[in-house]
Amino acid sequence: MSDIAQHAQTRRTFAIISHPDAGKTTLTEKLLLLGGAIRMAGQVKARGENRRARSDWMKIEQARGISVTTSVMTFEYRGATFNLLDTPGHEDFSEDTYRTLTAVDSAIMVVDAAKGIEAQTRKLFEVCRLRNVPIITFVNKMDREGRDPFDIMDEVAETLALDTVPMMWPAGGGGTFKGCYSVRDGGFVAFDTPESAPENDPALPKLDDNGLVNLLGKDAHAELVDHVELAQGACPDFDLQSYREGHMTPVFFGSALKSFGIRQLLNAVLDFAPAPRPQPAHPRPIHPDEDKVTGFVFKVQANMDPKHRDRIAFMRLCSGRFKRSMRLTLMSSGKSLSIHNPIMFFAQSRDLAEEAWPGDIIGIPNHGTLRVGETLSEGEKIHFTGIPDFAPEILQRVRLDDPLKAKHLQKALESLAEEGVTQVFRPQIGAGWIVGVVGRLQIDVLLTRIGQEYGIQVGFEDSPFVTARWVSADDPAELRRFTDRNKASLAEDRDACPVYMARNLWDMNRVQEDFPKLRFTATRERSFSS
Ligand code: G4P
Repeated sequence: MSDIAQHAQTRRTFAIISHPDAGKTTLTEKLLLLGGAIRMAGQVKARGENRRARSDWMKIEQARGISVTTSVMTFEYRGATFNLLDTPGHEDFSEDTYRTLTAVDSAIMVVDAAKGIEAQTRKLFEVCRLRNVPIITFVNKMDREGRDPFDIMDEVAETLALDTVPMMWPAGGGGTFKGCYSVRDGGFVAFDTPESAPENDPALPKLDDNGLVNLLGKDAHAELVDHVELAQGACPDFDLQSYREGHMTPVFFGSALKSFGIRQLLNAVLDFAPAPRPQPAHPRPIHPDEDKVTGFVFKVQANMDPKHRDRIAFMRLCSGRFKRSMRLTLMSSGKSLSIHNPIMFFAQSRDLAEEAWPGDIIGIPNHGTLRVGETLSEGEKIHFTGIPDFAPEILQRVRLDDPLKAKHLQKALESLAEEGVTQVFRPQIGAGWIVGVVGRLQIDVLLTRIGQEYGIQVGFEDSPFVTARWVSADDPAELRRFTDRNKASLAEDRDACPVYMARNLWDMNRVQEDFPKLRFTATRERSFSS
């Protein structure tokens, strides 16, 4: 096996998807503890009330990109390198959150045992599905009263159309939670088992051990045996390929707060989750073992100092061995760039990256040359695909106080849109712009940055639109017929592609029914010349 293939095999690049408050931060922390990347809980970010109280400050933090260190965290465990990509979910939920999922090979879906599948989890899951990203499910907060585990399994299966396979099965829940039977280890992991216990501990009691009957009590033991049998009978056997193709999810139960089930989960990421996969690209997919370096930018973050328009572009390496100071070509322009100061991210620090391998994420400081969706390569003309723009969920009109600054504003909006968290649309009727975002905080950030970085005073006001779809057709005449009839709801994005803005969901459905030959899409691939 080549050096590159060997390093690629030991990479696991993944994200955690969840609804706010399901326990993503707590789980992240416990994974980092297990990987030795931090020494104490409470170091990942401010928690609970403290975090919410900080949301005003966070706006500024986001605007200036200070949270950059938490975008990617790298740690080691059992001889493998894990790259955990952050998917901001609270106030800072944005298009970045979606696009980060285009840079991972797998995801952990955290579900609150009391709440089941919630709205944001579902949205993020749909993005994973676009690329068939395999998902491991972690049902969290088993130490608290929650729903019936069968119920949760059914909900995952039904709402997400996934086959579920239990890997751990809980004995009790909330105050009576005693631990889980681990299907993989063939033994019972008691709730008070320290996380430092060796894996596959031979001392784990089997289901029919007397010791387990004593531990759980006769009735609870009988119930566990019954439920494990029932759950296994109702679910298919675990099939690695089906999981990797995104059809099946292994389900773990645990408690991030109480550090229960974390090791089993991380073992599953290592043992089941795929190493870097071939990446879709035009004109051919790129295999991680290839000699030449390739990668794509999935996120751009403005740097600390708003006066210097510094940016850090996050590049996922797709193939080859990257070395510091290497020259790579930007496929959008053909320009070449020497990467002297690539950054690797750890839980609390960043270091210069001397080298990196497929699956790794490096940060590249630049002054705006690197944009979201950019392909970098050692030479071959290729373009990675599947790094789309996502339809905004909030659309607001921009109100400009000084009309003489219209050109200036356009430049500011377009330049900020290049970072990939806001989109700008030019309505067909009337002057002005509409901006679209996925999370509301981005509107505040935009307002602050347009003022601070470009010196333009603007306001934002509600638009009559609630969602947008890119419109395309094989037949240009049909597209024209549509655009002529719907001028008041049409706009162009910054690449002059037509966008239909709907006033409500009924309106969206109606135009789709009226124009069945048109395609209305919630994502749009950035264009590239072939
Ligand atoms: P998030 O990043 O997904 O938004 O969730 P986060 O980890 O911040 O957790 C949200 C809340 O849920 C926190 O409580 C956290 O302590 C709690 N939590 C996380 N995992 C578990 C678990 O396994 N069991 C129980 N019982 N609670 C859990 P908080 O009150 O908002 O914050 P804090 O004051 O505890 O820090």
